[in-house]
Amino acid sequence: MSLAKHRLHALCPYFAMFPHSFVREHVLAHTRPGDTVFDPFSGRGTTLLESLLLDRYALASDVNPVAACITGAKAYVPPFDAIITRLCELEVAFQETAISPLDEERHSLPLFFARAFHYRTLREILFLRRRLDWRRDATDRFIAALALGSLHGEMDRSHSYFSNQMPRTISTKPDYSVRFWKERGLKAARRPVFNILRNRAVFRLEQGSPSRFGIALQGDVRRATWMFGCHTRKVRAVITSPPYLDVTNFEEDQWLRLWFLGGAPKPTYGQVSKDDRHSKPEIYWQFLAEAWQGIADLVADEGVIVCRIGGKKQAPESLARGMVATIRSAFPCAELVQGPLVSAPLLRQTDNFRPGTKGLAVEADFVFCVGKH
Ligand SMILES: C[S@@+](CC[C@H](N)C(=O)[O-])C[C@H]1O[C@@H](n2cnc3c(N)ncnc32)[C@H](O)[C@@H]1O
Repeated sequence: MSLAKHRLHALCPYFAMFPHSFVREHVLAHTRPGDTVFDPFSGRGTTLLESLLLDRYALASDVNPVAACITGAKAYVPPFDAIITRLCELEVAFQETAISPLDEERHSLPLFFARAFHYRTLREILFLRRRLDWRRDATDRFIAALALGSLHGEMDRSHSYFSNQMPRTISTKPDYSVRFWKERGLKAARRPVFNILRNRAVFRLEQGSPSRFGIALQGDVRRATWMFGCHTRKVRAVITSPPYLDVTNFEEDQWLRLWFLGGAPKPTYGQVSKDDRHSKPEIYWQFLAEAWQGIADLVADEGVIVCRIGGKKQAPESLARGMVATIRSAFPCAELVQGPLVSAPLLRQTDNFRPGTKGLAVEADFVFCVGKH
């Protein structure tokens, strides 16, 4: 399998600050083929996919259903033929479905949806939202992940996004989006959903898929030992990126994708995760201490923890102090063997859509060896 970026990595954009090259470098430095790598904050599944491509076992979890769906689609990629057959089956079923119940549902949605999607595109989206059994069925999960990747994006750049003009990484808030489209006279174009998904499947799977399967679960990091109990002391490397201090609220930013997976037709707060965006440092560090305690029993003696964190208005030294203290609360013999390696301040992708917004934060990488514990 080639080590260049695999097309599956970009199955659905979710969080841009954790590149596959970073994961690859650390998988190669700290593990051997056949070792187990774990990411308890998996997001779009970068660590899981890169580890599988490098012939490692991969475990992943995340509290957010969007992350669980995308990472799950990478953990087990169904055969290409099964995906195409299922898409055809769904398309035929859609054509045979009575339109009026779909239209009733369409009319019951907030105004945002009528402006975000052409009415015929929205019918197809609503149909798939009802039919895809993404939690139980691997083929449906892969199709749902493809749909999440197409649900919104820059319509002026590509015809494979279903929505009116939006960023592809995050869903902008409903009132803001409606105003944005109105002021610019932007109208949602008709998008043939089933065709787009078929083309996306071809493109994403052209390079093949990993020969290993991984395990991806939805759950809070504090319950990781319970979720992955049979892997106690097996994890050679944790390569992860927890929520940053006061930077991003994933539940809010992913609200439209959460809706597609069965959630509310508007942004929600604290229903998916209460830890996405802690603004008080003491509460943030308490959360990270609980996170490391949640994974401690899974990590092998002499295992490593590679962690990229960031924070708004944070000096790298204060990030380092917090990291060392919280890691040692769970791994008393841990040594910082690399870092903090500080990256340039971050600029959020949405700044193109909201000129003048301030998204600057410092980001730093750490590598710990946990010693014997
Ligand atoms: C910085 S992102 C991870 C990005 C990921 N490395 C990637 O490449 O996409 C942090 C993730 O932590 C998740 N998260 C927030 N609170 C959590 C919790 N209590 N337990 C597990 N995951 C949590 C969020 O849903 C989000 O996906």
